[in-house]
Amino acid sequence: MVQRAIESQQWLDRPSYRLEHILTFVLAAMGRRRDQVANALHGTWLGHPLHPALTALPTGAATTTLALDAASVLSRGAPELRRAARIALGVGLAGSVGAAATGLTDWQHTHEQSRRLGLVHGALNALATSLYALSWWERGRGRDIRAMATSALGYGITLGSGYLGGALVFGWGTGVDRSGDTLSAPEWKPVLPVAALDGRARHLEVEGVGIVLYRNDAQVIAAGEHYPHMGAPMDDGWIDRDRIVCPWHGSRFSCESGEVLRGPATAALPTYPTRIRHGMVEVRGVAQ
Ligand code: FES
Repeated sequence: MVQRAIESQQWLDRPSYRLEHILTFVLAAMGRRRDQVANALHGTWLGHPLHPALTALPTGAATTTLALDAASVLSRGAPELRRAARIALGVGLAGSVGAAATGLTDWQHTHEQSRRLGLVHGALNALATSLYALSWWERGRGRDIRAMATSALGYGITLGSGYLGGALVFGWGTGVDRSGDTLSAPEWKPVLPVAALDGRARHLEVEGVGIVLYRNDAQVIAAGEHYPHMGAPMDDGWIDRDRIVCPWHGSRFSCESGEVLRGPATAALPTYPTRIRHGMVEVRGVAQ
């Protein structure tokens, strides 16, 4: 219910677009390094979104702080436990920089309801991080009770925000590979007369699996029917210098291997071997 309520708040679109423009400007200011930085933050190099992995650091550190605070109260304020709790909180604060940078970079390519949900998720994380920073500072000044209460409040907000993060992934498929079914039949299948490939992408089904054929000079390229990032239809894309380009957010894939050359996609595009026999294009699946 909370999730649906957030998703329907259209007034969130205005701050979302402002923030998106700031992010676009910041990335553009990096010039030729833009793609390298964006790919690093998306997790393109890892083949998996980086953000979920990095969120484990601040969340785990906050959990550790809470456990050490509880142990410190039970042991009537053992100084080593209080010191350890402050160190754990400091580690979490450092880790939250990476989690925020990767989350913002991924969020930039969401739309409508998922974008509103992501904005609230990020705002809650920013609030929780501010409380952790305040708690860390209070701990340094010996105001332990106030500091413990502040970080406990931050932890409650982190849990609420984690719920929204889960809804983004499991409800909206943010970061999930959306390329769909892949063709696995190992035999060559004749699918289309080569003369029918006239420069446009051709969409067809082989063994119940959608594929798209492109002609790139003498080569015929066969790929899955959806782009992995957000499931854009493959036949809306185009080929540019041996790269398949997705029109929605500009991901680029190797024509030969489907490997991601530029994010936001992190999962490879399914591509299939092709050959031409007796004027027909033949395609075969790849082992899963
Ligand atoms: S759907 Fe986002 S890059 Fe293609």
